[in-house]
Amino acid sequence: MDFNSPFILQCLLVITTVTDGSATMIDVFSGSSAKFPVGVESFQNVPILIWNNNNCSMTVENDALLAECHPSSKRWLKLENGSLVLRRVEREDEGNYEFYFNNSKVFFTLKVFEPIIDARCFPNGTAELTCDVDSNESLTFEWLLNNSWLNAHEACIKDGGKKVRLEKTVPGEFVCKVKHNHGLMRTRPIVLSCSYGE
Ligand SMILES: *[C@@H]1O[C@H](CO)[C@@H](O)[C@H](O)[C@H]1NC(C)=O
Ligand SMILES: *[C@@H]1O[C@H](CO)[C@@H](O)[C@H](O)[C@H]1NC(C)=O
Ligand SMILES: *[C@@H]1O[C@H](CO)[C@@H](O)[C@H](O)[C@H]1NC(C)=O
Ligand SMILES: *[C@@H]1O[C@H](CO)[C@@H](O)[C@H](O)[C@H]1NC(C)=O
Ligand SMILES: *[C@@H]1O[C@H](CO)[C@@H](O)[C@H](O)[C@H]1NC(C)=O
Ligand SMILES: *[C@@H]1O[C@H](CO)[C@@H](O)[C@H](O)[C@H]1NC(C)=O
Repeated sequence: MDFNSPFILQCLLVITTVTDGSATMIDVFSGSSAKFPVGVESFQNVPILIWNNNNCSMTVENDALLAECHPSSKRWLKLENGSLVLRRVEREDEGNYEFYFNNSKVFFTLKVFEPIIDARCFPNGTAELTCDVDSNESLTFEWLLNNSWLNAHEACIKDGGKKVRLEKTVPGEFVCKVKHNHGLMRTRPIVLSCSYGE
């Protein structure tokens, strides 16, 4: 037996904990607002923001910041009650945020929960869709096919709505809508395509 392995693992765990110690974790559902409690009431000068090691270009306008951290991501952060608020968060906003104000620095790690549809096709021509969200909050699920409610003739909905069993694989775009305590989010649409080989 290799007695060294657990020991090495333990060391790695300790290192990870120390490294993460300075960043505050922020979990948010996609489409909701993320709040970064920076503890600043007003901007005395233009803060510096480093997002996933990108130096963001910053513009201050009244009590809001326009951060361009990536050519394709220009985002407003509004200062509200000592927190910077990022609205309608998307998966692409995830990562490490390092804010440097005149005299202070604050670090955050943003994680965005976004539901995705997992589709399985069975050889007998049926299929099963699962709405997966990596969250332990209590959620309710609704299903859309081509933007209308999926009806009971087409599908059997189970597991509190999380899963849908389709008697036959109908063409069209499926979307799962997820209701959580603070609002609603939806998956990106998927088109079911089952291939059954020869
Ligand atoms: C930044 O902080 C220093 C030291 O506290 C202070 O003297 C200076 O006025 C501040 N600058 C701004 C723009 O607030
Ligand atoms: C990031 O941008 C700021 C402000 O433009 C600049 O002072 C700083 O040197 C830059 N840092 C890096 C690592 O590029
Ligand atoms: C700021 O805090 C006050 C008091 O806690 C609250 O009434 C107000 O709604 C908050 N404003 C925002 C924009 O969150
Ligand atoms: C089709 O196959 C799946 C998976 O094996 C099974 O759960 C389901 O009951 C079958 N449906 C029919 C109508 O045979
Ligand atoms: C969800 O998980 C987090 C951390 O894993 C825990 O702190 C929280 O209490 C859990 N919430 C529920 C409703 O189980
Ligand atoms: C959904 O829309 C697509 C494209 O418009 C169409 O081909 C398909 O038949 C529709 N599916 C249903 C179940 O209405």
